[in-house]
This record gives sequence, C-alpha cells and structure tokens, in this order.
Amino acid sequence: MRHDFFAEDSEEFEPVTFVKMKPDARERSRLRKASHTKPTKKTSYESSSAVQRWLKQQAYDVEPEAEQRQESSFKPMFLAGRRDSPWILSSLTPLYDQKLITDIIYEASSGKEATVFCCAAHVDTGQELLAAKIYRPRMFRSLRNDAVYRYSRVQRDEEGQAEHGNSRRGSAATRKSEKSRAAQVASWIEYEYLTQRIMYEHGADVPRPFAHIGNTVLMEYVGSRDQSAPRLSDVVLDVEEAQELFDCIMRNIELALVHGRIHGDLSEYNILYWEGKVSLIDFAQAVDPYHNSDVFSLFARDIDRICRYFSLYGVACDPNALARSIWTRHMGPLPELL
Ligand SMILES: Nc1ncnc2c1ncn2[C@@H]1O[C@H](COP(=O)(O)OP(=O)(O)OP(=O)(O)O)[C@@H](O)[C@H]1O
Ligand SMILES: [Mg+2]
Repeated sequence: MRHDFFAEDSEEFEPVTFVKMKPDARERSRLRKASHTKPTKKTSYESSSAVQRWLKQQAYDVEPEAEQRQESSFKPMFLAGRRDSPWILSSLTPLYDQKLITDIIYEASSGKEATVFCCAAHVDTGQELLAAKIYRPRMFRSLRNDAVYRYSRVQRDEEGQAEHGNSRRGSAATRKSEKSRAAQVASWIEYEYLTQRIMYEHGADVPRPFAHIGNTVLMEYVGSRDQSAPRLSDVVLDVEEAQELFDCIMRNIELALVHGRIHGDLSEYNILYWEGKVSLIDFAQAVDPYHNSDVFSLFARDIDRICRYFSLYGVACDPNALARSIWTRHMGPLPELL
C-alpha cells in the first residue's frame, strides 16, 4: 500500500530550519554527523513488516478478497505527517472499506495500550460519529503479566483451542512464539468486544459496539464533533445527581454479573459522563465470574472504587456489604464460605 500523502514524514527528509541554535550545539551536531556513518534509521515495532503483515491478515480475515485490492481510497487528512500513520491506516482501512467509517476527525485519547479516534460514521450505520479503539501491536509483547492470565480468562491458541491461563507464570502458549501471542491478543480483544456486546444487548449503559476487526474495536461515540465525553474523574457532579448515577452504575455491575461478566477495572476513570448520563467503557480486563472463584476480589474492588468516588458526594454505602449481597444474590455463597 502506498502512502504518498505521508511523504513529509519520511526519515530521509531534512527540513531547512531557521531556528537559532547555540554555536556549540551546531558544532557538536556537525562533528557527530562527521564521525558517524549514516545513523541507523529509527523503526517502531508497529511499523515492522511482521506486525504490518499480521495487521493486514487480521483485518481482512472477514473479507479475504479485499486483500487482493490494489489500494483503498481511504486517505484521511488527519493522519498526514504522523509517524504512526501506517499502522493506524492498516487498522482503520477495513472499517472504511466495509462502509462503517468515512474519515478520522480527531484523536480522543492515547494511552499505553490503545489509541481512541473519533471517526465520521458511514451513513449506513445510522450514527454521526463512531469511536475506533485501536490497540497497539506492541501489546503482543507484554501479555505475560496481564489480568487475563491472573484471572483465568479463557484464551484461544493458534488452532482456536481453549486454554486456561490461570497460572502466575502465564500459560504455555505465552512463552511460545510471537505468533501465538498475537493470536492471544486477537482473542483478548474479541473478548472485550463480546463483553461489550453482551452488556449492550442486555440494556447496560455502554457505548453500542459496532465491529471488531483485527486490533480495532468500533463503537458508538460518546461526545460530540468537538470533544469526547469527559470521564467521571474529570467532572464535578451536582450532589443531587450523585445518588442516581451511583444506583445506575450498581445496576450495571449487577447486570454484568448476571450475564457472566465482571468489569475488573471499573473506576471513575473508565466511566464517561455525557448529558447527565454515564457510560461504562474499557472492558479489556473483564472476566467470567463462573470461571474462577478468585474473581470475587475483583468484583469487590470494582464496587469499592465506585463507593469511594461517590462517598465524596455524600452517597452512603458499605462497599463490602454491597459486594457480598449482590454476589450471594446471583452467585450463591461467597468463595471463602464454601
Ligand atoms: N466510546 C467512546 N466514546 C468517546 N470516547 C471514548 C470512547 N471510548 C473511549 N473513549 C476515550 O478514550 C479513553 C480511553 O479509552 P479506554 O479506557 O477504553 O482505553 P484504555 O486502553 O484504558 O486507555 P487509558 O489507558 O487511557 O485508560 C477514554 O478515557 C475516553 O476518553
Ligand atoms: Mg481505560
């Protein structure tokens, strides 16, 4: 795939600058250049050919004939000049080709593991905006310590066989090849997407999920053309609305449990607040409560964090009692009482 419109990002391009530099700095720079042979070109993990190949393969799994296409017409101006444009483009082009998005409007957030973009939605989706959460391929390298392994989420190996990675050392496949780790990340993102779908279909307050292709999850955008919805951690609530929002979040936690999920990383940082309503996001750490009794501690931690946040607004709650009562109502006796 050619990216002519990114030509200005080329490493070979030496811009002429009129910035005043200190004389020593200029001399040091000249000597450095003279004493070294051509500096090694910086390459990011994301742009390595193996990662690009993997992204392409993942992206077109659902539509193999698309791989044969010469070039997509997706050329978002937003990406011009960005170093990371090749991997963002390989992640979003399939969404464009499948008539889900038409353009990238802005970057809503960039974290360690994923970047979220506000995209213009294709008219067929019935939305104006969509959020594309793109996981960085470099995540493939660092799965070993992930909650996936600590809390027994079922993983699929290369052949699609279920693995139960509940060992602290990580499952056997984690120690295998890069390829099998990539397969695990794919199943990990699929699980996040599936969790969000289950939640949405049962009426939870989560952004409506639209698609999962490769390393990208596409969902309803919470916010506007100008700004993404702030997180609960970023806003000051009215005391009067706090109790209602708290109850709403507890309902969502209970709903998730009833349908076989614990968020696992719930806090004011993973809840968006927009037009007086909350949306729970980021199901990357979600786990199945039926899979391992250890997960009660995760469940209790989610509730504890929400209680702490809302106690600042005078909402009275006993996180321990609340966690125990919701758990026993749906899951039976508490693990330590078994
Ligand atoms: N559906 C959405 N609509 C609008 N903004 C969103 C949406 N999903 C995510 N965001 C924005 O992207 C941010 C990060 O999303 P998320 O929490 O899912 O990813 P993350 O990998 O945990 O990133 P971080 O480490 O920054 O929390 C959110 O805090 C929010 O600002
Ligand atoms: Mg998050």
